[in-house]
Amino acid sequence: MLAGFTNMTFEFGARAIVEDATWHIQPNERIGLIGYNGTGKSTLLKLLVGEYAASAGTVERSRGTSIGYLHQDLLSFDTNDSILEVALGAFERVRQLEVEIEEVGKELEKTGDEDLLIKYTDMLHELETLGGYNIHHKTEEVLQGLGFANADLQRPYKEFSGGWRMRVLLAKMILQAPDLLLLDEPTNHLDLPSIEWLEKYLIHYQGSVVIISHDKYFLNRMVTKIVELYQRKLHIYNGNYAFYETEKELRLELAQRAYENQQDYIRQQERFIERFKAKASKAAAAQSAMKRLDKLDRLEDIGIERPSLRINFQVDKTPGKVLCELKHIGKSFGNNKIIEDTGAEINRGDKIALIGANGKGKSTVLRIIAGVESFTGDRRWGHNVDESFYAQHQLEALNINDTILDEMKNAGSQKTELELRTILGCFLFSGDDADKKIKVLSGGEKARVALAKTIISKANFLMLDEPTNHLDMHTVDLLIEALNKYEGSIILVSHDRYFVSKVANRIWEIDDYKIKDFDGGYEEWVEWKERMKSRESGVKSRESGGKKSESGGQKQEAKPVVESKPQPAPAAPVKQEPINKEAKKELQKKQRLFKELEDKVAALTKRKTELEALLASPDVFSDKNKFVQTEQEYKTNANQLKDASAEYEKVFESIIELEGQ
Ligand SMILES: Nc1ncnc2c1ncn2[C@@H]1O[C@H](COP(=O)(O)OP(=O)(O)OP(=O)(O)O)[C@@H](O)[C@H]1O
Ligand SMILES: [Mg+2]
Repeated sequence: MLAGFTNMTFEFGARAIVEDATWHIQPNERIGLIGYNGTGKSTLLKLLVGEYAASAGTVERSRGTSIGYLHQDLLSFDTNDSILEVALGAFERVRQLEVEIEEVGKELEKTGDEDLLIKYTDMLHELETLGGYNIHHKTEEVLQGLGFANADLQRPYKEFSGGWRMRVLLAKMILQAPDLLLLDEPTNHLDLPSIEWLEKYLIHYQGSVVIISHDKYFLNRMVTKIVELYQRKLHIYNGNYAFYETEKELRLELAQRAYENQQDYIRQQERFIERFKAKASKAAAAQSAMKRLDKLDRLEDIGIERPSLRINFQVDKTPGKVLCELKHIGKSFGNNKIIEDTGAEINRGDKIALIGANGKGKSTVLRIIAGVESFTGDRRWGHNVDESFYAQHQLEALNINDTILDEMKNAGSQKTELELRTILGCFLFSGDDADKKIKVLSGGEKARVALAKTIISKANFLMLDEPTNHLDMHTVDLLIEALNKYEGSIILVSHDRYFVSKVANRIWEIDDYKIKDFDGGYEEWVEWKERMKSRESGVKSRESGGKKSESGGQKQEAKPVVESKPQPAPAAPVKQEPINKEAKKELQKKQRLFKELEDKVAALTKRKTELEALLASPDVFSDKNKFVQTEQEYKTNANQLKDASAEYEKVFESIIELEGQ
């Protein structure tokens, strides 16, 4: 084992983040760590590296295991060194050796000393085993994979934006090749080609990797194990994300079924007790039924818990038909030309996604529209446009010493504190949470604050740069739903294809320094691109796809179907007639039968619960034969239980009738 937890509990003050967790990371594992925003994933990594200490239980790190840890929050690290230098920092020992070899070499030339020669060759040997002759090449390869142009490698680190700095640190870390890599949402700051590159790189990585991510495509390809932090417990699944999804549904369904069966059983027993507790002849049976119930290990109703954010974008006033007109727009950063003499128009109702490879200037165009970037040409606003801008590194713009409520107050709306607290409640910051400091918030929680700030403006035009970063998958679905309902217009940048395909009804591609406008959704655009590619080159026809339907893309969570059992008939009216002998005999017979059936139902129910637990256990799951056999027994058992229960009910009724005679 490289590192892990045994029966570990961790609390922030009175709030437990994780309870009694056991998880051992083995060599050569690729693990996805998942869970809703704010459940404590980043905290788990901090526990693993020793930044936090467990409240109970143990955190283990085996001796000699090297760990590399990439924070979710960008580091404050800053330097004038070039990014190549920073990344080369991974090879500290190699670079030290290089210097020493140089020195010893010079000395050797002078003295020709024998011992020195041995030292010299030893050092050359070490350099070779460390792959020292290769480090420049390797470093460049990794930096390029993460999207850096060759010309950038000599530029000072401090010139780069947060997202790019994170890539340099990521490059340095993977070059260090620790035994255990802990990556906290590494894909947040990457574009698609870089994500794909990272995927390939990590798949062949020699050590173990733990990755926190909300990107299911990435997880599906990358990991062979999923660890989910849900309701303060760690749940381990031996497969990729798709496996996790089906398996989790199955586990939930089985647990839910076990719960419902137990509830049926409890109701049945309670009915029995209720009916007979006052009857002297049955009091003992009622007593024992009561004891049985007391002893019962009660299952919990595991209705699936999910964050129920209420995102509701509102519009104050309706703008004119054209919101913004761009004409002859141009922009360069030094020699780096981004766009040139290009134009486009944003109309009311447009939900535009800006698409284009990294560095083509998607964010730049968005910032030009938002008016926070200089440009040449003409940008004209329509009537009554109220815009709101969610910038790419919006979260980093939050003041970490503010409380959440302060941030909202500073957003410039005229709202009262009560109104702001209500909005925060919709974003899952209820009560005291609103007074939490920004600096203790998780990545997703910060994103929620930033989103809440975007919402209070009631703008009719939203400019969103990577709004899904840091958000968990369920919250992304809720955001999609809200944006589909939104009556205003949107222009957005996102590397999340799922998100783009669910929201956009128009695509702007930046290519060849121009904005290329496509009137249709993402899927139609992809199809169209493919058609264009397969067509003879030189044909310049512009096609337009249909409008995307507004139905939105809500995934429905499969819910187990609950079978309702027939309820017993109300008690028969008691007739006051003398008991005849025949009837008494019959009653005794029925009572014996009743007792037998009761035992039978109890035994079958117990077995049913056991079988359900078995079906849900990985032991049985992973063994096909065992699973089929257990499932067969489960079915047989269920049928027997159904018959026995029906009979039990019948006998029950007839006893009531006979007793009444
Ligand atoms: N120092 C602290 N004091 C009190 N609460 C804290 C502190 N640090 C973090 N928290 C809270 O603990 C919870 C877990 O935080 P953590 O950053 O581990 O979540 P996460 O699962 O990584 O979420 P995300 O997916 O949003 O990144 C959050 O609700 C956060 O606000
Ligand atoms: Mg986190």
